[in-house]
Amino acid sequence: MSVICIASPKGGVGKTTMSANLAFAIQRLGHRVVAIDFDNQNALRLHFGMPLSDSSGYVEELDSSIEWTRLAQDTDSGVRYLPYGRVDKSRMAYYDQWLRSNPTLLAKKLAPFLNQSDTVIIADLPPGPSAALQALSLMDPMIINVLLADSASLSVLPEIESGSFYGEDAKQRTYFLLNQVDMRSQLNRDITQFLNGRLASSLLGIVHRDEAVPEANANQMSVFRYAQSSSVAADIDSIARNIHRLLPKMHVSEYKKYS
Ligand SMILES: Nc1ncnc2c1ncn2[C@@H]1O[C@H](COP(=O)(O)OP(=O)(O)O)[C@@H](O)[C@H]1O
Ligand SMILES: [Mg+2]
Repeated sequence: MSVICIASPKGGVGKTTMSANLAFAIQRLGHRVVAIDFDNQNALRLHFGMPLSDSSGYVEELDSSIEWTRLAQDTDSGVRYLPYGRVDKSRMAYYDQWLRSNPTLLAKKLAPFLNQSDTVIIADLPPGPSAALQALSLMDPMIINVLLADSASLSVLPEIESGSFYGEDAKQRTYFLLNQVDMRSQLNRDITQFLNGRLASSLLGIVHRDEAVPEANANQMSVFRYAQSSSVAADIDSIARNIHRLLPKMHVSEYKKYS
């Protein structure tokens, strides 16, 4: 019973892509996985084969008594996912306010998932600080920052490491993943080497830039199905194994009080 937040100060770095693919990879290691979309772009569903025309999601249901476990969709792989849903701006603002007004509301909605043994929730977050991340922090999540091997990612590192981005008490639970690394680029190689040294064991791994990633997404498949023997599938599998090893330390101990 653990919560993994896929976060980043920046957008477009691959949070949603990694959320979906790590969900598959972690599930393959024997966990029950639920991927939940916390970004109003509602893009996570597109990795799971949900029809574009389907606008359903949990944000529409905040005040209904329906359990979120019933709103989660099944996939052939066994991973379940909970779409944000297509909602208008006023509903997005309402959700934000709902999260901020009482962060335990979210923990209560998630409790039925966490009551199922060995469940891992993977939270696909919007870029930057968010009300969702703040509310999830109550559940002592593992926080995985998706970085790129570029100067913009280097510039946000001190803020993350000092605890000013996710909070002082999250420092112990903060990890990194370096995405879209292109070893043909000297700058990418240099930054990767630098981050390897700087982040040490908090760097869970690197994922190479590979066209198979957007292609798998366009085909609404995981890279494990679309390009099983690609190096990018091996990259993500290796990160999932590192997460698997760390999960026993990341148990949500307090969730029961919200059920
Ligand atoms: N390892 C990778 N190789 C190639 N393209 C990638 C890789 N990871 C992500 N992408 C692409 O980068 C873009 C942004 O990814 P996305 O997951 O939507 O980012 P975010 O959720 O952080 O905004 C997408 O087009 C995605 O296919
Ligand atoms: Mg995203």
